[in-house]
Amino acid sequence: MPRIRTFLALDLGEKIRTQLVNLQEALTPLMPEVKWVEPENLHLTLLFLGEISDRDLLPVCRATQKVAQTTGNLTFTVQGVGGFPNLRRPRVLWIGVERGREELITLHDALESPLLELGCYRREERLFTPHVTLGRLKSDPTEEALAAITGKYQAFRAGEASIKELLVMSSELMASGPNYTIMSRAKFSGRT
Ligand code: 2AM
Repeated sequence: MPRIRTFLALDLGEKIRTQLVNLQEALTPLMPEVKWVEPENLHLTLLFLGEISDRDLLPVCRATQKVAQTTGNLTFTVQGVGGFPNLRRPRVLWIGVERGREELITLHDALESPLLELGCYRREERLFTPHVTLGRLKSDPTEEALAAITGKYQAFRAGEASIKELLVMSSELMASGPNYTIMSRAKFSGRT
């Protein structure tokens, strides 16, 4: 049975992506070894399903549609540099969400139950932290780079996102990097 690596995500739009690329470019001289996420791949993941059977794709899309029908458009600010596991020794460098963060967490939580029920999702052990991954690091940043990401750039604001749909995405892992494809779009049509 063919399997599809699947996740649910939000597309942040061209304006925010451009700001994020500007930040990547500003940080590149300080962090030349970071593997930056390609501009077209910058997105906010709401739920990572991992590999699902292709026959589960339609039920997943339907469940996602159903949740989107009870969700209103989302507005949030994409702001604040963070790191996993932390900003002192980051392996993943990301930008977070400030205003509107609670709504994203509510949507994440609302998506969990139907997908757990379908058997297409396992609850993550770590708490959901809304973020957009900017780049991945294999070694510790220099003191100068750390000073920049914990100082000058920490409050970096990419702008306000206004989101009208939730995307079901597939990811194909290639040697050159992941190839993301939109499998379905679920328009927000609720009031909240
Ligand atoms: P990340 O960008 O923060 O690494 C596709 O892989 C998307 O799903 C990525 O945005 C990735 O987030 C996210 N994701 C969340 N949990 C994941 C996991 N356990 N393994 C791989 N990707 C995960």
